[in-house]
Amino acid sequence: SLPKPPSEPMLNYAPGSPERAALAEALTEVSGEVVDIPCVVNGEEVYTGDVVEQVMPTRHSHVLARVHRASQETVQAAIDASLEARAEWAAMPAEARFAIFRKAADLVASKHRAKMCATVMLGTGKNVWQAEIDAAVETIDFFRFNTAFAEDIYAMQPPQNAPGNWNRSEYRPLEGFVLAVSPFNFCAIGANLCTAPAMMGNTVVWKPASTAALGNYYVYNILREAGLPDGVINFVPGSGPVIGDTCLNSPHLGGLHFTGSTETFNSLSHAITSNYGKYVGYPRVVGETGGKNFHFLHASADVRSAVNNTLRGAFEYQGQKCSATSRLYVPASLWDEVRDSLVAEMANIKVGQPYEFDAFMTAVIDKSSFDNISRYLAAAAAAPDAEVLAGGSADDSEGYFVEPTLIHTTDPHFLTMEEEIFGPVLTAYVYDDDKFEETLEVCASTSPYALTGAVFARDADALLTADAALKDAAGNFYVNDKSTGAVVGAQPFGGARASGTNDKAGSALNLLRWVSARTIKENY
Ligand code: SER
Repeated sequence: SLPKPPSEPMLNYAPGSPERAALAEALTEVSGEVVDIPCVVNGEEVYTGDVVEQVMPTRHSHVLARVHRASQETVQAAIDASLEARAEWAAMPAEARFAIFRKAADLVASKHRAKMCATVMLGTGKNVWQAEIDAAVETIDFFRFNTAFAEDIYAMQPPQNAPGNWNRSEYRPLEGFVLAVSPFNFCAIGANLCTAPAMMGNTVVWKPASTAALGNYYVYNILREAGLPDGVINFVPGSGPVIGDTCLNSPHLGGLHFTGSTETFNSLSHAITSNYGKYVGYPRVVGETGGKNFHFLHASADVRSAVNNTLRGAFEYQGQKCSATSRLYVPASLWDEVRDSLVAEMANIKVGQPYEFDAFMTAVIDKSSFDNISRYLAAAAAAPDAEVLAGGSADDSEGYFVEPTLIHTTDPHFLTMEEEIFGPVLTAYVYDDDKFEETLEVCASTSPYALTGAVFARDADALLTADAALKDAAGNFYVNDKSTGAVVGAQPFGGARASGTNDKAGSALNLLRWVSARTIKENY
């Protein structure tokens, strides 16, 4: 195994620091322009004129970008360009391909970091630290670690040869092109979804979310600056159905690399399986979808640590991480202390603008998300078996602001304990201390998802019991830590059940999905 790179250090943006000054400049630049974002097909920028605006979630009158949506012809041109670029890209020595992504990592780290962060802050409503861990650290780490994992894959060879014969494995890219579909909530996820297949020699049609097109467009331009050849990754923002239908109906679809809602993934997967027989092969389908992530406290938990981690897990980035904490299980003996601490701390959370350094939260991404979250808040306010203990209101007059909200329910199957909300809404259920094991079973089976979860306990037996009971309930399981914040290279990320195919982003397991191995036996 080759030495792995170190993780990119996180900058702290202390007052007077050079990064803080660079960020201020970049924020002024990004907020002072309206960028026309084209489709980029075979290196050519295509301004289709069918435009949707990307606005600041915290000030929706402020337009940051005009996103030119791909027409069916543009998507087809992107597919054709991918197919044409494939042979040369696949034949390029792997180290030469990797060098492009490593250079892109260095360009983000040293040249474009401030602009990347500013773009993600204003465009998707992240405060500076949330932007830094996404647009800088995680993006850089995906590029660096994945190339290292890819080297390991190419080095895997059959262990046995006999006198007179020699065996070897080759790792070819998939036949056809890969469709990458990325969400709004992490710029790094978009960067990973399109580059992981490309590192392994595939060519890609990339559909970024329109609400996050600006950050994704900058990453894409950094890849081009690093030397990505034309046609290897084609950038096509636009309508899901137009892009999805055109790509999924192509006989050359080789794979789908997806992060987004379970519903969309189900419909794409279904369309792919119903086209079996029309494709050259069986497209590889890799998807990371929803979550209904839990924090489970045992009576031996350190309350202060559990509360702090819960506040971060539930409310950082307005609860819009697929890993966000949204269910909380608390033993009756700890409830008064946990509830009072949460309510007191939540009253101090500042909800503000992304450029305000003391704003812990800002707004949710868009109107449809705001409306969806508001419906859950209304349902909780009206339900006899639930009580809103903190927050509960929302205001979209200037931006899509939702208060951090704590709901207490006496029904472990209450709506907000089961359904993904994708907003700053945490629901607590209090269990009798002597029902620890039964409640673990309830936690394990309440939601169809199994993405992330955490247990908080100091009692070693309780930890073992929880670990066993929650084995299938989370693909990323944390002990005395929050359910969010997986680090590339340290905690490969992904969940099972309705949370996806669990092909761990940021690990060799994911990169293996983008190769079609060929075994060669040679007699001599
Ligand atoms: N990887 C992120 C986290 O762990 C979510 O996508 O929070």
